[in-house]
Amino acid sequence: MSLSPLLLFLPPLLLLLDDPTAAVQASPLQTLDIFGNGPPVNYKMGNLYLRGPVRKSNAPLVNVTLYYEALCGGCRAFLVRELFPTWLMVMEILNVTLVPYGNAQEQNVSGRWEFKCQHGEEECKLNKVEACLLDMLDMDLAFLTIVCMEEFDDMEKSLPLCLQLYAPGLSPDTIMECATGDRGMQLMHANAQRTDALQPPHEYVPWVTINGKPLEDQSQLLTLVCQLYQVSWEGSSGIQVVGVGSASGTPTCGLPLQGEKPDICPPSTHSLRGVCFK
Ligand SMILES: *[C@@H]1O[C@H](CO)[C@@H](O)[C@H](O)[C@H]1NC(C)=O
Ligand SMILES: *[C@@H]1O[C@H](CO)[C@@H](O)[C@H](O)[C@H]1NC(C)=O
Ligand SMILES: *[C@@H]1O[C@H](CO)[C@@H](O)[C@H](O)[C@H]1NC(C)=O
Repeated sequence: MSLSPLLLFLPPLLLLLDDPTAAVQASPLQTLDIFGNGPPVNYKMGNLYLRGPVRKSNAPLVNVTLYYEALCGGCRAFLVRELFPTWLMVMEILNVTLVPYGNAQEQNVSGRWEFKCQHGEEECKLNKVEACLLDMLDMDLAFLTIVCMEEFDDMEKSLPLCLQLYAPGLSPDTIMECATGDRGMQLMHANAQRTDALQPPHEYVPWVTINGKPLEDQSQLLTLVCQLYQVSWEGSSGIQVVGVGSASGTPTCGLPLQGEKPDICPPSTHSLRGVCFK
């Protein structure tokens, strides 16, 4: 498939890719600390700006899990056009999990797992490469590296460049060794089990679950994540109250100390703030 529409979609990331050394040298420590617990600051990576987490919260994160395979066009489009921008906007309330396997099949051939992939051998290899990235890197860096790779036509060739951008300490050889060896096989088997255990079973790829339930309209990801994120409040009695804005679970008075929704989320119609301060 041609990826040019995807490439056009993300000019900031591309600018970043244009000049990797400048991006990395600009602020190496900040680049590594974006996802840490530091103070809320805006970070600059080349021309890509990332917001720091707005504030720490005790409210549970919204779980978004993507079941996919490395070379499926719809998977790449969802990852790059929906999941990645959503993550950029509301990363502080999201827990993203990637499960590369999709419609692959596995077979026990004299004690070793062998895989058949929809898009052939190359896809099986790339699924393992991505599983190894997820195994060896923190989720955020693995996610950035995988999104980066999925934007290229030749994903295997893009691995060194994407690693250099997001995880310069990890060599492509280490990843390929994992992917072609026993570790890659084990990781893929775990992903097979995880995919096969889906309830209800997946019907197609990309298959997305949000807090464990299938996401039917994949263009509604951001809206749903915002809706599902529970705002937690500290009531005047000091007791933390968690609610989604329904009348019954709403404290009569409190301060929005934790779990405030990211600004990008549309204001909810049953705003707790409204109830509390009217
Ligand atoms: C997300 O998944 C974790 C681990 O399975 C779970 O503890 C947590 O409650 C989930 N969050 C929501 C909002 O369901
Ligand atoms: C994020 O999701 C994973 C499962 O995909 C789970 O093991 C982990 O507990 C979750 N983390 C949080 C903070 O919900
Ligand atoms: C895979 O097959 C081997 C024999 O070919 C058998 O000993 C082993 O138990 C099988 N493993 C699983 C998980 O089915």
